[in-house]
Amino acid sequence: MDPIETLFSAARAAQGRAHAPYSRFRVGAAIRDEAGAVHAGCNVENAAYPVGTCAEAGAIAAMIAQGGRRIAAILVLGDGAALVTPCGACRQRIREFAGPDTPIHVAGPEGLRRTFTLDELLPASFGPDNLA
Ligand code: THU
Repeated sequence: MDPIETLFSAARAAQGRAHAPYSRFRVGAAIRDEAGAVHAGCNVENAAYPVGTCAEAGAIAAMIAQGGRRIAAILVLGDGAALVTPCGACRQRIREFAGPDTPIHVAGPEGLRRTFTLDELLPASFGPDNLA
């Protein structure tokens, strides 16, 4: 299968399992790690609203728990007409495990809509190198 299609399928399956009773906005995310393994996550909201987590955070947690260490590509899938780009906090979460050229694919229910690089979404970023 096409590599983006594989991420899209994983993100769609996770989106279907999202816990989003408050916003009713379901999001799925899927990461391909440096070894080619795919890790997915969905948003998990909470009655105490700020405690909710984004799909990207779930996918990153799954990657780390399963032994992946780098994001080779990530796809985010949400409904609606607008592009579901990662929120600011998730751009920084992705930054921890990705390089400036890492592709961030943004998809809608019909498929891929647009691809950004991490540097396009988070220019002049602060990352692990700043602490070296
Ligand atoms: N959300 C994500 O999971 N990822 C994004 O990239 C954008 C927003 C979630 C957070 C919240 O559960 C819902 O979408 C509405 O903001």
